[in-house]
Amino acid sequence: MRKPIIIGNWKMNNGPEKAHLFYHDLEKLMLNKEVDIDWAIAAPIISMPSLMMQTEDGLYIPLAAQNVNENDSGAFTGEVSISMLQEYGTEYVIIGHSERREMFNETNSSVNAKVKAIIKSFTSEDDYIIPVVAFGETEEQFNANKTALVVKKQLNECLKGLDADDVKEIVIAYEPIWAIGTGKTATPEQAQKICKLSRDIIAEMFGKETADEIRIQYGGSMKPENINELMKQPDIDGGLVGGASLEPESFFKLITFNK
Ligand code: 13P
Repeated sequence: MRKPIIIGNWKMNNGPEKAHLFYHDLEKLMLNKEVDIDWAIAAPIISMPSLMMQTEDGLYIPLAAQNVNENDSGAFTGEVSISMLQEYGTEYVIIGHSERREMFNETNSSVNAKVKAIIKSFTSEDDYIIPVVAFGETEEQFNANKTALVVKKQLNECLKGLDADDVKEIVIAYEPIWAIGTGKTATPEQAQKICKLSRDIIAEMFGKETADEIRIQYGGSMKPENINELMKQPDIDGGLVGGASLEPESFFKLITFNK
């Protein structure tokens, strides 16, 4: 059984002060509540300390990052390394988000280099970081019926040269670009179709066992109102959520969708 995984992607929202308030509000909402899925918040790096445990028995929020540089250290102005994320106890890192591809020139090959570098952290038992590899087609590609082709190329190139056992541990996130921040969610059937296709591509590349284990998220206007229908789909194992993860009440509903 694949454990559901919901990650909130705050993008460039919620600075340290807002994150601090979020922490305390979420802590109140979580009091005496059990969450039995995997979850995390991908906050801006500067807001991460505000989400760390504030008291000894305070709420533990699993942290994710929105990007990382594949180099160990050096003259890379503005960048953050994997070991720096490890110092913060980061558990996940989103790689290849469409906004990074569109605005910051990330390509399938740069995504591949980052994933390979992150996977090296798998050798450390406590400090390993799980890459969440995002992919998905533009509206133009969707309208031209090119989704399958685009998704296949992205997965082939982003995951090229990886080991099947490592791929079992990573998360991939199908985010149709036309559904991001638009309120236009893919129908559960559409999302399922591409998540299933993605699993078939993983099977082709790494074998059925890996394809059965890898977790696939859907992202694009996921919210408390539509999460249940999406999560009912057999090949959707979780969500990568932007807008609806910014407020504690809404995020809490998402991570307790199955309650
Ligand atoms: P929205 O949930 O705001 O559509 O954003 C999705 C997304 O890009 C998550 O990474």
